[in-house]
Amino acid sequence: MTPQTLPALREALPPGSTIGIVGGGQLGRMLAQTAHQHGYRVAVLTGGSRNTPAGSVADTEIAAPFDDDAAISRLLEVADVITWEFENVDLRVARAAQRAGVGVFPSAEIIATTQDRSLEKKALQEIGVSVAPWCIVNRQDELAAAVREFGLPVIAKAARFGYDGKGQTRIETHNAVADAWQRLGCQRLVVESVVAFEREISVVVARSMDGQVADHGCMENAHVKHVLDSTITPARISEARSREARGIAAHIANQWGLVGVLCVEMFDTPTGLVVNEVAPRPHNSGHCTIEAAAASQFEQQLRAVVGMPLGDGRCQPAAMLQLLGDLFLEGALDWSEIYAAAAVHLHLYGKQEARSGRKMGHLTLVGDDSVGADPAVLLAKLMSLRQALTDR
Ligand SMILES: Nc1ncnc2c1ncn2[C@@H]1O[C@H](COP(=O)(O)OP(=O)(O)O)[C@@H](O)[C@H]1O
Ligand SMILES: [Mg+2]
Repeated sequence: MTPQTLPALREALPPGSTIGIVGGGQLGRMLAQTAHQHGYRVAVLTGGSRNTPAGSVADTEIAAPFDDDAAISRLLEVADVITWEFENVDLRVARAAQRAGVGVFPSAEIIATTQDRSLEKKALQEIGVSVAPWCIVNRQDELAAAVREFGLPVIAKAARFGYDGKGQTRIETHNAVADAWQRLGCQRLVVESVVAFEREISVVVARSMDGQVADHGCMENAHVKHVLDSTITPARISEARSREARGIAAHIANQWGLVGVLCVEMFDTPTGLVVNEVAPRPHNSGHCTIEAAAASQFEQQLRAVVGMPLGDGRCQPAAMLQLLGDLFLEGALDWSEIYAAAAVHLHLYGKQEARSGRKMGHLTLVGDDSVGADPAVLLAKLMSLRQALTDR
């Protein structure tokens, strides 16, 4: 990948300028809230919906598809810079921005690469980053051949537009190949060996226009049904492993010429770190940075894309627990215990409709004198509070 070329003479966008956000979800909402705190204005292109989590707190919500040229023009009329809270989108907004002379951070090339699992893995391997053994398959017989080559089990993932475990399946037997091929929609797939990991970790790294790099340390993540459920920081890994993980994230950010924020998900294995995937934006494993760091992942994104220096991203020990739609489907929730736990930070994303697996909000607890600094203890406390939401 060619690092993004930046205009030779660029001045930071001052407060009062407008940040154009592609995507209307909760990541855009938290970026918008930070941007407002810093005196910036916000315009959101939602992809179609109205009253989205991001759009409902923005100065301007453009409720239109990502490939709607008139909507893109409206966005570019008000936005002084474009950034992303969602990468699985049509790239015409980036091309239109380029024509209009509006900066796009991270670059369209980074977004295009991370939209496609095969392009992403190739780009990572080109810069010497380890990924699980993988191949691309275009037909059912190629899938069967890949399963024979890698050995069972394997994970097959739609090459494009997968998230939260959607568009992927684990294949445990040779007989399951035909069914998996059908279920994934008979489309181009990336097939991967299953990595026997000890834990999953992630590093959210920011890079400024001047090439300054900062991260928030290593997050340790637990997934339930392929959706991130909880994060603790620091991850329970050695100092050396942590340095290695942060080094990998910085290497990717530098080699790709990133401007903005990027999350690198990794498997920690007895023989080393293996990168699972990269997201070119803030990530839910970085939510605890809002309270645990002086500069959150959203503040780092803001600072990077307006051309300001990065802030201090170092985190206090903390835990984050996601609140998924499933909880809300069980009936009215009792919030009293969460409000009674005075140190707990509650975030709700303002989504009107709960669906199974949909991210509705999260809880964060930062270590202090009363609760201590053991992230596992912080997480246990959040788990019992989440449990209490539905205990009646
Ligand atoms: N090659 C693999 N080996 C072991 N587990 C995997 C592998 N690929 C994915 N997973 C599991 O599935 C989860 C979701 O996969 P991921 O590729 O991150 O997709 P998504 O884009 O849906 O987050 C991972 O966090 C991990 O728990
Ligand atoms: Mg993932």
